[in-house]
Amino acid sequence: MTGRVEGKVALITGGGSGIGRATSLTLAREGATVLVTDYREDTAQETASMIVEAGGKARAMAQDVTDEAQWQAVFASLRATEKRLDIVFNNAGVSNNGILLSDTTLEQWRHVNAANVEGVFLGTKYGIEMMAETGGGSIINVSSIYGKVGAIGSVSYNASKGAVCLLTKGAALECGKEQNGVRVNSVHPGFIETGMNAERLKDNAARDWMISRTPIGRIGMPQDIANGVLFLASDESSFITGAELVIDGGFTAI
Ligand code: NAI
Repeated sequence: MTGRVEGKVALITGGGSGIGRATSLTLAREGATVLVTDYREDTAQETASMIVEAGGKARAMAQDVTDEAQWQAVFASLRATEKRLDIVFNNAGVSNNGILLSDTTLEQWRHVNAANVEGVFLGTKYGIEMMAETGGGSIINVSSIYGKVGAIGSVSYNASKGAVCLLTKGAALECGKEQNGVRVNSVHPGFIETGMNAERLKDNAARDWMISRTPIGRIGMPQDIANGVLFLASDESSFITGAELVIDGGFTAI
C-alpha cells in the first residue's frame, strides 16, 4: 500500500535521529510533506535532505521543544508556508537511565520533564489549535514502556512518560468534547536501537538482558515504531483516540 498519508502535512520533533528520523522518512515515503525539527539543526537538515533526495517533500527547522517561543515560531512558519497541518509527532525526548531516586537532583528531574512532558504539552496544545482550523488531524505523543511500568534508575523518565500517557488521554477527551476532528494517541516503544540506547547496547550483558526481557527475542528497530506511527497518522485509525499503542515486542505482557 502506498500514499497512506498522501497530501497531509506532518510536523516531527526530534526528527534528527532514531525514531524521529525513521518516522520522517516513512511518512514522506507515504506522501506526507514533513517539517523536521530538532534542537540539532544539522541532523534535522540531514533528515530533510534524505527525504528530498528520495523524491519526497520536506524542510527542516531548529527547535528546542522546551522553549515556547520556538514552538510559536514553528507554527508561524507552518501557517506561512504549508498553510495547514494534519499530523504532529511529539517525539523529541531525553533519558537519564541509571540515576537512582536518591541521587536524582531537582535539576536532572526538571531537565527530563522539560523535554519529555513540557515539550509534548506545548506540541499538543499548539497542534490542536492549528489542526482545528482545517478540520482536524492526528497527534501522536511518544511515551514508553516506562510510561506504563517502573524501572530502577528511571524515576524522572518514568514520571515524564507516565505524564505523556495521561496528558494524551485528557487532550483526546477535550478534542472529542469540542468535536474539532483532532485525534490524540500515545505510542509506547520498548527497547529500540537508537542513539538514546547506544551506550547500553554496546554492553553485551545489557543487550542480552534487554533481549531476555522481550518475548519476541530481539531489540526493536526505529522502523518498528515508524510503522505504528504511520497507522495512527493515517485515516486508517480514524476511530482511535486516547489510545496507547504499545510496540514493545511483548515486554509489558510479562
Ligand atoms: P534519539 O536520541 O536517537 O533521538 C532523540 C532526538 O530528540 C534527538 O535527535 C535529539 O537531538 C532530540 N532532542 C532531544 N531533546 C530535544 C529538545 N529539547 N528539543 C528538540 N529536540 C530534542 O532517541 P530515540 O530513541 O529516537 O528517542 C525518540 C523518543 O522515543 C524519545 O521521546 C524517547 O524517550 C522515546 N523512547 C525511546 C526508546 C528507545 O529504546 N530508544 C524507548 C521508549 C521511548
